[in-house]
Amino acid sequence: MIHDFQLIPGENIVPQLNLTPDQLLTTTRSVRKRLDFTRPVEPEVIRECLEIALQAPSGSNSQQWHFVVVTDADKRLALAELYRKSFAVYRAKRAEAIQQNANSPRGAIQQRVANSADYLAEHLHEVPVHLIPCIVGRTDGLPSNQQAGVWGSILPATWSFMLAARARGLGTAWTTLHLPYEKEAAAALGLPYEKIMQAALIPVAYTQGTDFSPAAREPLDTILHWNKW
Ligand SMILES: Cc1cc2nc3c(=O)[nH]c(=O)nc-3n(C[C@H](O)[C@H](O)[C@H](O)COP(=O)(O)O)c2cc1C
Repeated sequence: MIHDFQLIPGENIVPQLNLTPDQLLTTTRSVRKRLDFTRPVEPEVIRECLEIALQAPSGSNSQQWHFVVVTDADKRLALAELYRKSFAVYRAKRAEAIQQNANSPRGAIQQRVANSADYLAEHLHEVPVHLIPCIVGRTDGLPSNQQAGVWGSILPATWSFMLAARARGLGTAWTTLHLPYEKEAAAALGLPYEKIMQAALIPVAYTQGTDFSPAAREPLDTILHWNKW
């Protein structure tokens, strides 16, 4: 059944941080070290963020998305163990790249992100909520134009969830490293792997402090193309 969603100012489950749209868009960081593992996250606030996520676009307005919210400690541990297996392989490769850039400012940023990623990998099972956004159908073997349609129908909703979470004092980080073990994760969650594709694993927790800043990025002009490449 279709229903209308209405945001009533002042009637949110938890008070919002009152960020401007631009502040929200520029300070929604990947939060790892400042996730508060001890503060419970109300199921209602997750529902509210997901209601907002459902306002995102999807191909042909198909809304073929599903969201698995994992709060069960054993299941979070199972997901974290899969993540850590994959992370170990990724991290070993990453260490080489970081070593090569050791003396550059880029290397310093990479090292900082790597330390933060190490911390998340170690503590993932402690994060109170894992959100797994999913989409009906699998892209395995599809041409890239069709893949774009499928991925593009779940990723905007996922980012909307993360923005809504940030607006409410929650931190998130986009992660994909459990996906080499997507089948095992599906089995742990009773999710039908053949029909449903997982897009990410988003750890969600309140943050320690709510001040986050815009991040350093490559200058816009190095990647901007007007009218021709
Ligand atoms: C597609 C995608 C996959 C990612 N996978 C992971 C991951 O598995 N683990 C992780 O710690 N961070 C992951 N990240 C987060 C990036 O590392 C993060 O965006 C980067 O650290 C920059 O952080 P910032 O956005 O706060 O500046 C992923 C981000 C994206 C967009």
